Amino acid sequence: MGAAMGPRDVARFGSGRAWSGCRSGYPTILVFCLHAACVQGGRSCTTCMRILFTSDLHGQRHLFDQLAELAVAVRPQGLILGGDLLPDSRPEEAEDVQVGFVATVVRDLLVRLRDELGPLRTAMIFGNHEVRCAEAAVARLEDEGLLTFLSPDKVLAWGEVSLVGYSCAPPCPYWAKDYERLDRRGDENTFEQGYVWETDAGEFRRVNAVEHLRTLATMEEDLASTGPVERPWILVAHSPPAGLQLDRLTCGLDVGSEAVAAFIRQRQPDVSLHGHVHEAPQMTGQYRRQVGRTLVVNPGQGEQKLAAVHFSMADPAGTLTACNVACCR
Ligand SMILES: [Fe+2]
Repeated sequence: MGAAMGPRDVARFGSGRAWSGCRSGYPTILVFCLHAACVQGGRSCTTCMRILFTSDLHGQRHLFDQLAELAVAVRPQGLILGGDLLPDSRPEEAEDVQVGFVATVVRDLLVRLRDELGPLRTAMIFGNHEVRCAEAAVARLEDEGLLTFLSPDKVLAWGEVSLVGYSCAPPCPYWAKDYERLDRRGDENTFEQGYVWETDAGEFRRVNAVEHLRTLATMEEDLASTGPVERPWILVAHSPPAGLQLDRLTCGLDVGSEAVAAFIRQRQPDVSLHGHVHEAPQMTGQYRRQVGRTLVVNPGQGEQKLAAVHFSMADPAGTLTACNVACCR
């Protein structure tokens, strides 16, 4: 919608912002950037790019179908996927299941969006339900130019917008331990049983996760590897931060990361995107918080209906829209 606007439309709306109703009654804010590149109809302006974010689809094909439909409706310039995208399975099937899913369902989604929307910047991280052997399948999609995998020690530039991503979450009950880390050194971990992927052997190895995670860098230490990042920038971290009501489980326990929270406070990204705790928005009524200049978001995830957000980098807090496919159809 916004991409089709030209200089006359900008002039008609004055500076910037207009409301447009969705069929479901959800409002959508349209923001029109007054950057020269945009006003002149240039395609290179990324400061005002619209970004669509979702997470935790867990291999559910109906949610991938809804994501494709939503993206075609929203027409973002950037798509960000926040981890736990692939199906669960038993350890002995996980390589086939997750590698196969990336090569089929994820690839089909990205090819369809490229065909329907033109070149679409896409970035993703993994979550604690992914296994390391699926990285090679994602790398093949990177080679095709379909997406970029984010990490904390590498800054991705989408024009003027920078992105940093972090896949790991604090210890969880699930068996896969490739993307789990202690939040901070000395933290307690009671989940002993798990498996990690051994790349050289090409198979999973059973581990005592309590002992194993003690041998690895913590989330706090991993995040410390992030160098200077120029604004505007986006942090994409699978785990939500602690202390913001974006991390509450159904049982009432808050399981967010203190390391991610401290990183946000110290580094102040413009936007910080999270997933992992699907039910948090229902439990607390919160899916967005403001920490200094940082807009922090966990849209949560549904079983039947996809949860997502979109926003313009021109004004993330003013344009953030929680949506599902019915909202934007
Ligand atoms: Fe997760």
